[in-house]
Amino acid sequence: MSGDGKRIAVFGAGYVGLVTGACFAELGHRVAIRDIVPDRIAALRRGEVPIYEPGLDDLLERNAERLFYTTDVEEAIDGAGFVFVAVGTPPTYSGDADLSAVWTVIDELPEMERRIVVALKSTVPVGTGTKVRHRLDARGLAHVGYVSNPEFTAEGTAVRDFLEPDRIVIGAFDEADGDAVAALHSGIDAPIVRADVASAEMIKLAANAALMTRISFINEIANVCEATGADVVKVAEGIGYDRRIGKSFLRAGVGFGGSCFPKDSLALKQLAANSGYHFQVLNAVIEVNELQKRRVIGKLVELLDTLRDKRIALLGLAFKPGTDDTREAPAFVLAGRLLAEGAEVVAWDPVASADGLTGVRQVESVDEAVRGADAVVLVTEWPELGGLDWRALGATMRTAVLVDGRNMLDPDEMRGAGFRYDAIGRAASNGR
Ligand code: UGA
Repeated sequence: MSGDGKRIAVFGAGYVGLVTGACFAELGHRVAIRDIVPDRIAALRRGEVPIYEPGLDDLLERNAERLFYTTDVEEAIDGAGFVFVAVGTPPTYSGDADLSAVWTVIDELPEMERRIVVALKSTVPVGTGTKVRHRLDARGLAHVGYVSNPEFTAEGTAVRDFLEPDRIVIGAFDEADGDAVAALHSGIDAPIVRADVASAEMIKLAANAALMTRISFINEIANVCEATGADVVKVAEGIGYDRRIGKSFLRAGVGFGGSCFPKDSLALKQLAANSGYHFQVLNAVIEVNELQKRRVIGKLVELLDTLRDKRIALLGLAFKPGTDDTREAPAFVLAGRLLAEGAEVVAWDPVASADGLTGVRQVESVDEAVRGADAVVLVTEWPELGGLDWRALGATMRTAVLVDGRNMLDPDEMRGAGFRYDAIGRAASNGR
């Protein structure tokens, strides 16, 4: 890949910051990644990648000579023309985004004579850029440019999403700053959407809201399918061929989780509410998702009569495959509900940990999780769950009951393997 070797500082060595830094290095830039956690920086310097993100370790290793890690602000910014901010913006109790980490970065910027551009990757409420602009001006940094450059990378495919994106969005107060940030992406073949700062901020929130709406929509279609005898997998296929609808993000399941959707839905809801607008569709999307995460409990009760003293095996803890992230993971909600109902919960995941799930026993293998269980719930569609000998596994269970929370397995095959099988929105084949 090409690039004319600009100097970039990235603030925040989380998923977004590390991927941004590694990919800019891959494009030929020299990148300083700065984080406030010394252990994280020390690990990165030793060549250890503190998160699980496919392809990231290769990229960091391959571009090691262009990457530099530090906890020191001055060192990170020294000689840099760009500061990319990729710090966390978690929800507060009110549902608003907590921007304190963003403000800390802005306040920590050293006084400088030269013009640099601050580019915000973190997801923030619309209006944040204007506030940052004022704060920079108030600090005597009117000559420091500001650009909104939201990220659209998904965990598990983040490297590819950065280097082969559907689009790059750049919102700038000053056209020249937008041009400079656009030029950093040279080597990437994608449309660049140039916008004002507020619109760029809204594009990010609206994109995530649209994706979440699709998921809650298909989950509700699934629930109606269950009540009426239709099969949501067929329905999704049938509607997905319509080019106006499209095929992606129509997989019904146990609801969405992760570090982005739940947080961003609340932030957008709150942003609207703060300006006096009740965002009805988004409120429904959030509520449907909360109910969806709990629906599996009803299915288990129907299949087992009671959950008290039943051993339930959860297969998958991560909020989706390809990541060790368990933030807002449906598995955690399920585990909490199952424990509250008096069940014993055993969990397996190839990379994610049950840390924080008091009362859940995490085991090393699917065999171990399933053996002696009264029911299995497939919560995360890890590819390794597809090719298993379910007949043999079922024979080791106390009762061969499986709820497929991701519609991953073939209902007829599972039934043929001796299971009482239920899934999401597949009434036509649930055998009841
Ligand atoms: C999401 C977006 O996809 C990214 O574009 C965005 O940049 C990112 O949030 C962010 O704001 O940072 P991510 O949370 O990593 O990325 O994961 P997704 O692949 O979007 O999945 C989110 C959740 O939706 C998962 O729990 C997944 O299981 C669920 N999902 C997804 C469904 O239930 N059905 C689907 O059809 C698709």
